[in-house]
Amino acid sequence: MEPVAPEGVNAPELPDGARRKFVHRMLNMTLGLWAMSGVAGGAYVAGQYVWPRKEAGTTGGEREVSFPVADLDAKGMVKVLVEGDPVGVFRDDDEVRAVGLVCPHLGCLVNWNKDGREMVCPCHGSRFDSHGAVLQGPSPAPLKRYEARVAGDTVVVT
Ligand code: FES
Repeated sequence: MEPVAPEGVNAPELPDGARRKFVHRMLNMTLGLWAMSGVAGGAYVAGQYVWPRKEAGTTGGEREVSFPVADLDAKGMVKVLVEGDPVGVFRDDDEVRAVGLVCPHLGCLVNWNKDGREMVCPCHGSRFDSHGAVLQGPSPAPLKRYEARVAGDTVVVT
């Protein structure tokens, strides 16, 4: 049965097979776009793993933080928030050091190994010296450094 155009409408005449080619092209374009979006999504996720964010978000916390020196001696390492970023403060070589605790690889929190005098990431094994420099990857960058000074019986971190 021939399709009938509504009254007053002149349906264009299509050559034989033109409709089939048109439908095939549309279907191929749709499948192509769908495949490209899948590839792009996968590449984005892989990119987040290989090239993690450089900056963690900052929420709350002061720009300058202080606490009693006695806490440092009692705890070994004192954890504070400086502008929302977790920072570890500890003594090393009779100096007070402050190093960011967020691993630059994928953002896990590193731990201070006092005996080994290094920071160790529990997630993928990155190791950093007491200044935050990378000793072993996969971390692509050192830990963030902060200023720490002793003022009387207080440690000030900025
Ligand atoms: S998050 Fe991967 S090594 Fe620290």
